[in-house]
Amino acid sequence: MSALADTHVHLLAGMDDGPPNAEIALAMCRMLVREGVTDAAAVAHQNRDYPDNHADRVYSSAVFLRAMLADKKIPLTVYPAAEVMLSWNTPLEWRAGELLSVGDHRQWLLVEMPHGDFLDVLPLAKSLTADGVRLIIAHAERYEPLLDNLELAQKWIAAGCLFQVTACALAEPRDERLESALKRWAQGGFIHLLGSDGHGIDQRRPQMRAGYRRLARWVGSTQADRIASEWGRAVLQGRPVEVPPPQPRRVSWFSRLFG
Ligand SMILES: [Fe+2]
Repeated sequence: MSALADTHVHLLAGMDDGPPNAEIALAMCRMLVREGVTDAAAVAHQNRDYPDNHADRVYSSAVFLRAMLADKKIPLTVYPAAEVMLSWNTPLEWRAGELLSVGDHRQWLLVEMPHGDFLDVLPLAKSLTADGVRLIIAHAERYEPLLDNLELAQKWIAAGCLFQVTACALAEPRDERLESALKRWAQGGFIHLLGSDGHGIDQRRPQMRAGYRRLARWVGSTQADRIASEWGRAVLQGRPVEVPPPQPRRVSWFSRLFG
């Protein structure tokens, strides 16, 4: 297993529904190190529930955490990032400088759907790509219209989106349907990045290793290393990432009947 890159973990104390204080944030960082993670996007929500989370504030909080990690000699590098709730105003907010990109490299925006809603990402991706920034779909496995529609998923990826999947959803899918859908995604090349979406030390802990192992079992360690390490680290560090187009596996009439 390569050193892992967690592209989605709420580590910024007091900024959202993640760690309430610095001690818990540091405990989460130590957990990530034990999980084999060396690089992590330290994320806070940017949405209406957290109106104070301006890009500058989230960025400063991540810089502060980075300094604490150095001081405590915890071998984890964190990169400032936000989990932005998509809306039709997202391109306007981006142009106004209100949104923090992953690592502040202005290459990737980590986005989630509005609660209980599912937006057509294609016009948003097109508009934002014209402004030089592409979308990472956070916890993409949550969106059933996407998970169940490989054609739609292919269109989003062709429009420049990367799909991030939650490590725990891979390791412990809530039901067989999700498990087989994730396996189909993994084997078809629809998963590009792994995130723990960790929020604390008691619940929603920052776990990555079990998700990596499940991926490796499904697609082999070389591809699992690309997803959980190589591509994630490139995104965090602002290096170019080009992923191959997905190639959904055809399901035979035999396995449809008996599989
Ligand atoms: Fe999150």
